[in-house]
Amino acid sequence: MSTSQPAPHPLTVGEGPMALERALAQPDPDSLTAASALRRLVAPELAALALEQASLRRRARSKFGDRAADMLFTATGLEQATRPEVSAWRADTFAEGCSRVLDLGCGLGFDALAMGRAGLGVDAVELDPLTASCAQHNLASVKGRVLVGDAASAVPAVMDGGVLVFVDPARRSSTGRSWRLEDLSPGWDFVLSLRQRCDRLVVKLGPGISRSLLPDDLGRHWVSHEGTLVEVCLATDVGEGPAVDRVVVLRGGRRYELVGRGLGRLPVEDVGEYLHEPDPAVIRSQLYAEACSGTNAWLVDHDVAYLSSDGPLDTPLVTSFRVLESIPWSVRTLRAWCREHRIGTLEIKKRGLDVDPAELRRQLKLKGSASATVVLTPTPRGTRALVCERVPRSP
Ligand SMILES: C[S@@+](CC[C@H](N)C(=O)[O-])C[C@H]1O[C@@H](n2cnc3c(N)ncnc32)[C@H](O)[C@@H]1O
Repeated sequence: MSTSQPAPHPLTVGEGPMALERALAQPDPDSLTAASALRRLVAPELAALALEQASLRRRARSKFGDRAADMLFTATGLEQATRPEVSAWRADTFAEGCSRVLDLGCGLGFDALAMGRAGLGVDAVELDPLTASCAQHNLASVKGRVLVGDAASAVPAVMDGGVLVFVDPARRSSTGRSWRLEDLSPGWDFVLSLRQRCDRLVVKLGPGISRSLLPDDLGRHWVSHEGTLVEVCLATDVGEGPAVDRVVVLRGGRRYELVGRGLGRLPVEDVGEYLHEPDPAVIRSQLYAEACSGTNAWLVDHDVAYLSSDGPLDTPLVTSFRVLESIPWSVRTLRAWCREHRIGTLEIKKRGLDVDPAELRRQLKLKGSASATVVLTPTPRGTRALVCERVPRSP
């Protein structure tokens, strides 16, 4: 299959812009009233497309804010689109030294847009014709072009230096979203084959893919955004030496980066004065020792992602709690403690044990005006219920 130019999106030509404007003006674009109003103006297919677009734009506002106002979406494309703070981080990190990006499976074009804004010329390829038409519209402000077709047929036999090849494969199977490498499209073997064909390869994968399946000749960046682990990004490491693991935490408009230095595992000891919950990107990368480097911190269990220390930890990569009390864990002991302290509202955090916080809250029969935070965790002294107070994060 060869590549071709996408057709203009139906909402950008003929009666399309007018239909979209009318759909956007509908108080509820999903309603029957809106459908009837639009069908009086244009053909049913165009009416349906315009109303769906109006509905998608509303949904897209939570991810893209005001930027959504001029964009075109598909439902699947919106679901798969990279968050703007993450695509901006990727472009800032990997565009340097490159002049063009070849985005193989560009979706609605949000990663390509960030690369284009970072100054790269954009060649974007997309298999699905309607998605490609959206991308063509969304990428109008940057230098480059969108093509419809299979990624494999868009890779030149000889790649110029200065080309950054980016792949964010779709992660779907016939049963929905998938974490299996075999379910990626473009396929995983194709993605791996690109390592030999370009100077800089950057691959976005879902964060749930087991780290043991990831190639170790590409650098691995575990990325979290506002406390949610969003992806593992693989990239040809710039510079000599073996590929390095990294943590990237994007929070409140700031970026924090941590580089793996092979510091190994932290020791396991009993809970001290403070308990720390690492950012999910630290947990997934297992870079606990690097996250706590220069401090005296330890793990409270070999298999549980809680750290502890006797002093506060000065790092934005953990959420910290001061431990006020440590109770041997059972429903009975915790219920008695809550009753004694008149706890009516209880925040329950837990790792390493099979407890449903909602069900536990019911069993505790909470009554009173006080509130508390309790952390349930295995420790060297057995499973404990730690009554904690959150330590405010330093700005
Ligand atoms: C996860 S999305 C890309 C999202 C994009 N990075 C963004 O932020 O908007 C992956 C896209 O790859 C496309 N795709 C899947 N297989 C492909 C192939 N063999 N060739 C070209 N595109 C493909 C899918 O249609 C989908 O739109």
